[in-house]
Amino acid sequence: MSDKKILWGSASAAYQVEGAFDQDGKGPSIWDRWVKLPGKTFEGTNGDIATDHYHRFKEDVALMKDMGLEAYRFSISWPRLIPDGVGEVNQAGIDFYSQLIDTLIENQIEPVVTLYHWDLPASLQDKYDGWLSRDIVADFTQYAELCFKHFGGRVKYWIILNEPNIFTSLGYILAMHPPGHTDQKEYLQAYHNTALVHASVVKSFKEKNIPGMIGSSIAYTPGYAVSQEHWDKEAQYKYYQTVNWWHCDSYYKGSYPQWAMDYFKQLGILPEITSEDLELMAYAAKHADFIGINYYQSTTLAYNPIDGASMEKFNTDGVKGQFKESGIPGLYKNVYNPHIRYTDWDWAIDPDGLLYSLKELNDRYHKPLFISENGLGAFDVLENNEIHDGYRIDYLKEHIVRCKQSILEGVDLIAYCTWSFTDLLSWLNGFQKRYGFVYIDFLDPGLPRIKKDSFVFYQEVIRTNGDNCE
Ligand code: BG6
Repeated sequence: MSDKKILWGSASAAYQVEGAFDQDGKGPSIWDRWVKLPGKTFEGTNGDIATDHYHRFKEDVALMKDMGLEAYRFSISWPRLIPDGVGEVNQAGIDFYSQLIDTLIENQIEPVVTLYHWDLPASLQDKYDGWLSRDIVADFTQYAELCFKHFGGRVKYWIILNEPNIFTSLGYILAMHPPGHTDQKEYLQAYHNTALVHASVVKSFKEKNIPGMIGSSIAYTPGYAVSQEHWDKEAQYKYYQTVNWWHCDSYYKGSYPQWAMDYFKQLGILPEITSEDLELMAYAAKHADFIGINYYQSTTLAYNPIDGASMEKFNTDGVKGQFKESGIPGLYKNVYNPHIRYTDWDWAIDPDGLLYSLKELNDRYHKPLFISENGLGAFDVLENNEIHDGYRIDYLKEHIVRCKQSILEGVDLIAYCTWSFTDLLSWLNGFQKRYGFVYIDFLDPGLPRIKKDSFVFYQEVIRTNGDNCE
């Protein structure tokens, strides 16, 4: 297997760990509001306290050090830094992230900073409908520049946006995330604005000569055709055009795929894409340093007639067996794959899909790849203060082997981060869907941290550069 050194890390997001949602001058985010609306999250769970990482980050970093973790990916909460999104800066917010970064560096852990993991300042939603407005490009770029000013140099890896494809589709098509709309045209507009934000921030980073590497992370779900029949292969083509290539080409090629452009245009829902937009996007496509991908699962695609399946909400309670065919009538539908395993939340477990994705992205974009999330959400059982999560070890092992294999097959894979280091809040699934190496007992107000078996497993992954998985 390959000897190439990968940076081994683990990830989190501000809203899912920090807590302290209204402390020390932080402004409200759209998620602070959303979770308080009845019925929006699993049993009304919220991130008011989460894992209390805001107050306990030193203890968490000590656990990372104990493991030998090489990189910790966390996000900065925009409203903690700039409570209204624009204007006055909250010094306590700067101090918090500054201390976190210093503590990581003192412990030989590389900070990997995500600038946006979904917690938009609520005031920008009120002011101009958040992601629906092009005004966000200038405001976000100013926020990013504030981060470069304070943390630049100390931070070498920057992820601008986390999963723009997820927060726009769940926010504007499925109404499962704020602002809770169901409008395909709005989704395309919001997504286009994310591409402009990404591009504008890459440009600023490069023009200011900030040291380090920059990119954004897309949730990447490869799709297989359910059969070799031409109508199923056609469905796969249309999925790639309107989903995977739509999301990735705009960031990493600087243009949108033509068939999908024509399709959205004839539906009258294509956003305005100016020549200046395309110029900016092309600049970013050329200069972004890596492609971030979050990989959890694959999908299987089949022909979907014009009166066929439409987009469906998905399992958020962990009662297995709720898989529903879901898709875009006339284009494709996602179908059950009997050849692979599924999690309790009906997510396909498909390590080969990761290898397939890495090769696909490498072939198409020729850039270094940074896996910024991969992991298994599961119910864990605490027994005698121990958690035997062999299923998580198996999941990670199988995916890490594919990472190493991808390098042998020519992929420039630079980093692998699991989701997540400690257990944390799952946006829609509450605290019962766990991903961490460190168990947190959320029923105990002391929020005790307990190492799982997977903690020791990943310690060995890091020590052997993944060789213990082969
Ligand atoms: C990714 C997000 O979509 O998946 C994370 O970037 C999220 O924030 C993770 O928690 C797992 O998703 P879920 O819904 O199982 O918590």
